[in-house]
Amino acid sequence: MIIAVDGPVAAGKGTLARSLARELRLAYLDTGSIYRAVGAKILEAGQDPGDPVAARSVAEFLVPGDLERPDLRRESVGLAASTVAVNTQVRAALLEFQRDFAKNPPDLSDGPAAGAVLDGRDIGTVVCPDADLKFFVTATPEARAERRHKELIERGDESIYARVLQDLKDRDARDSQRVTAPLKPAEDAVYLDTSTVEAGKVLETALDVIRSRGL
Ligand code: CDP
Repeated sequence: MIIAVDGPVAAGKGTLARSLARELRLAYLDTGSIYRAVGAKILEAGQDPGDPVAARSVAEFLVPGDLERPDLRRESVGLAASTVAVNTQVRAALLEFQRDFAKNPPDLSDGPAAGAVLDGRDIGTVVCPDADLKFFVTATPEARAERRHKELIERGDESIYARVLQDLKDRDARDSQRVTAPLKPAEDAVYLDTSTVEAGKVLETALDVIRSRGL
């Protein structure tokens, strides 16, 4: 079974995808961490995330350990990620790894996985267009900014709500307007609005949809 979870910044994709993975014994891939790893390595090298040559060479030589970097969730890294993600060659370099994960999911700690769940921006449209089920998770910009702001504060990072809201809008615009694999719902995606719905309820709704499809 392959489940695609797409949506804009801080909509609750990761929370839903992780819970689905646990409930359904699926291997989970946070594809945002791949773009974040490219962004982080470029910043670390003092290069410009908008430089296509630098971004492409980092993407081509990414190793699995890069996805474990402790700085991936920083706001600066998220912004750099959305800049490198515009680059068509960067996206092409990262596509095969994602497709391979979906088709041949790694074992879980206690045995084989029953499939995979991937979250990102283009999973249902480009990476896994044949996924068994596609969710598009959304929420208002204000609800998403509130969540991200809280997450940053809890982690001990400095955060200003108005700045987080602006960064999120900039990132959404860049993700939606890019030419290659823009953020957009797949035609057959099921919408889940999480603005005023707590995570447990979102999971329940998603599981109901999965059961109702006989998956
Ligand atoms: O967690 P958050 O919603 O802030 O972002 P993320 O999922 O970690 O993704 C970081 C950035 O990577 C996004 O703003 C996108 O520009 C890019 N990305 C993408 O282009 N395609 C994906 N499948 C996943 C992420």
